[in-house]
Amino acid sequence: MIDLSTEYLGLKLANPLVPSSSPLTGELDSVKQLEDAGASALILPSLFEETIEHEQKQLEQFVHSQALGFYEADSYQPIPEEYDSELDNYLDRIQQFKSSLDIPVIASLNGISTSGWIDTGKELEQAGADALELNVYYIAGDPNMSAEDVENRYLQLLADLREHITIPVTMKLSSQFSSVGNMVLKLQQAGAKGVSLFNRFYQPDIDLETLRIKPHLELSSSMESLLRIRWIALIRGRVDLSIAATGGFHDTDDVIKALLVGADITHLCSVLLQKGPQHITVIKQELESWLEENEYDSVAQMKGSVSQQCAINPAALEHSNYMDVIKSYGQL
Ligand SMILES: Cc1cc2nc3c(=O)[nH]c(=O)nc-3n(C[C@H](O)[C@H](O)[C@H](O)COP(=O)(O)O)c2cc1C
Repeated sequence: MIDLSTEYLGLKLANPLVPSSSPLTGELDSVKQLEDAGASALILPSLFEETIEHEQKQLEQFVHSQALGFYEADSYQPIPEEYDSELDNYLDRIQQFKSSLDIPVIASLNGISTSGWIDTGKELEQAGADALELNVYYIAGDPNMSAEDVENRYLQLLADLREHITIPVTMKLSSQFSSVGNMVLKLQQAGAKGVSLFNRFYQPDIDLETLRIKPHLELSSSMESLLRIRWIALIRGRVDLSIAATGGFHDTDDVIKALLVGADITHLCSVLLQKGPQHITVIKQELESWLEENEYDSVAQMKGSVSQQCAINPAALEHSNYMDVIKSYGQL
């Protein structure tokens, strides 16, 4: 019997296959299907800072207009007692999932400023979230902002939250840091229990008819997993926190490679949107067969075995094979 269990953010998970934030992890029907198919935990879709800010403003406006005696004229505004905010819905969803599922439920916040987040973090914890993933989807578009300023925003947000909540916090990062490894180390020192590498930035497109920017969402492909695999191989063993691989994990081979370089779990998103929740069962069975054929007893045993080799020969992942790769074009 192969032991697929893994430890992530201090949680003992039955296997390393975790559906990441997406519409599939936001509805009771689909999360039940994910659990039945073998998901070992799940990450809710993010609660967005903008939504909470907007709702807070609406509420303030309501209270203000009432204080001024304009209530009747403004009665189209929502009445707080009857008002189901996104945050309330989110908290209800955590409670509902916690009572309907046996697997850990990880909440997700998306934003960059700390205003209001401390309270929100506390409420997520009280609602029963087992951990919190912070998706800092931040594009540093201002040329006056230094790399250090950007990094400090992440670190400040984490430090503020860590002061107020006790559940583990993990940071979902983009690959666009000058030194990814150093950033992960700083986050670890600031109290992060894990990182998810890497968030995908969706690239806006230009509509040539209207000359306006149009949103553009394309699902990932397996190729994207290689960037993640390289970085996890480089930092595993040099940092001491949980690592989730996210972005481009479609096939069982992708998952195996992530584990071999030291990921504790792999997130699954695009592949489940394309093939449905039950595809987790296929990956789980294939992972088990691979371990058996390659004489591993457990995921714990195989985890990180390639990154150990990389520590002996880090050049294989760093610069030195660049020239060989370029020269090999056309020779294959
Ligand atoms: C439709 C859709 C919705 C998503 N929503 C969120 C979200 O709310 N929060 C978040 O952190 N990531 C979100 N993601 C990103 C995924 O969780 C995942 O990290 C990313 O798609 C890379 O994994 P993949 O290559 O397996 O798709 C979303 C992705 C998709 C496709």
